[in-house]
Amino acid sequence: MEEQKTAIGLDIGTSRLVAASKAAKNFQFQTQLNAFLTLPFSNLTAQTLTRENIPHEAQGDELLIYGNESERFANMFHLETRRPMSRGLLNPGETKGTAVMRQLLAALLGSESGGRRLCFSVPGAPSDAPHDLTYHEATVKNILSEMGFLVTTINEGLAVVLAELDDTNFTGIGISCGGGMCNVCLAYLSMPVFSFSVPKAGDFIDESAASVAGEGATRVRAIKEQSFHFNGFYEDKVKQALTVYYDDMIGGVVGALRDYLSHARNVPRLDRAVPVVISGGSSLPAGFKERFEKALTSADLPIRISEIRMAAEPLYSTAKGALVAALAEI
Ligand SMILES: Nc1ncnc2c1ncn2[C@@H]1O[C@H](COP(=O)(O)OP(=O)(O)O)[C@@H](O)[C@H]1O
Ligand SMILES: [Mg+2]
Repeated sequence: MEEQKTAIGLDIGTSRLVAASKAAKNFQFQTQLNAFLTLPFSNLTAQTLTRENIPHEAQGDELLIYGNESERFANMFHLETRRPMSRGLLNPGETKGTAVMRQLLAALLGSESGGRRLCFSVPGAPSDAPHDLTYHEATVKNILSEMGFLVTTINEGLAVVLAELDDTNFTGIGISCGGGMCNVCLAYLSMPVFSFSVPKAGDFIDESAASVAGEGATRVRAIKEQSFHFNGFYEDKVKQALTVYYDDMIGGVVGALRDYLSHARNVPRLDRAVPVVISGGSSLPAGFKERFEKALTSADLPIRISEIRMAAEPLYSTAKGALVAALAEI
C-alpha cells in the first residue's frame, strides 16, 4: 500500500512534460516545458544561474537552459527555444535531444526515484514513420530505468480513457489534441480496440497560420493561446487562418476515426452508445467542443456516440491516466 502513494504517471508531450502522483486521495501534477535554449558559456553567467536556481548545464562553450525557464530567456533575448521532440517523438535530428530529456526528467522527478513504479504515455505510431516510435519509446524507457524506476508504458489515447471514463467502466473514445500530434483510442472495458495518431496538432496550426498570415509562429501561438476562440468568421487575418487550420486538424482526426471504424476488422459490435472525451492543450479554446461535435455528427460514424465531453483538466488527463495505469499494476 505504501507503494501506491508514490507511483508516478508521466505524460511525455512534445511541448510539455507532466508528472502525476497521488497523496492521500488527491492527484498532484508537476510540469516542465519540453524545451531548451543555448547561450554562450561564461563563468559569470553559470554562477549567476546557479545562484538563481535556474536549471542549466555547461556543455563545452555553451550553456544549456532547460525547462520552464527557457521560454523566459528566449523572450528576453529574442531567441527561439529548441525542443528535444517534434511531432510526438524524440527528434533524431536534434543532437542534444536525449541529453536534454535526461535533464528535464531529473528536474521533474527528482533524484529519489528508487524502485517506484512509473508509467509513461506513448503516442500511436505515425503511419509514415513507425520505427521512430520504437526509438523514442526505448530511449525514454532507458533514461527512466537508469534513474531507478520500474517502467511501463501506455498509449496516450487509452490514458485519456482511464483518466476520464471511470463512469462507463473505461469504455469510450479518448482523444488528446496536443502540440505535436493528436492521439485517439477506442477502448472497451479498459482494453484498447484500436489507437492511432494524427501528425496535425497545435504546432501544425501555428506554423500554417503563420505562413499564410506572414507572421512568426511564436507570435501566432501567443495570439492563439491568449485570445482565440471559435467565432464564425474573423476579419483578423491571423484568427481567420487559425480557424481554418483548426478545422483542418479536427477534420483529420474525425476522418481518421471514421476510417478506422469502417475498416478495422476487430471493431466490436458495441452493445451501447459510447462517450467521446476530449483533452490536451489544443482543445482549450472556447467553442472547441461544439466545433468537434459538429464535425463528428456530419461524419456519420458507424457507432453510436452517447455524448462528447471535455476532460476535467485537459492539460493533465494523459498524466492522470498513466498514473491510474501505474497504480493498477501494484
Ligand atoms: N489556452 C490555449 N488555447 C489554445 N491552445 C493552447 C492553449 N494552451 C496551450 N495550447 C496549445 O496546446 C498545445 C500543447 O498542448 P499539450 O497537451 O501540452 O501538448 P503536448 O502533449 O504535445 O505537449 C500547444 O500547441 C499550445 O500552443
Ligand atoms: Mg500531451
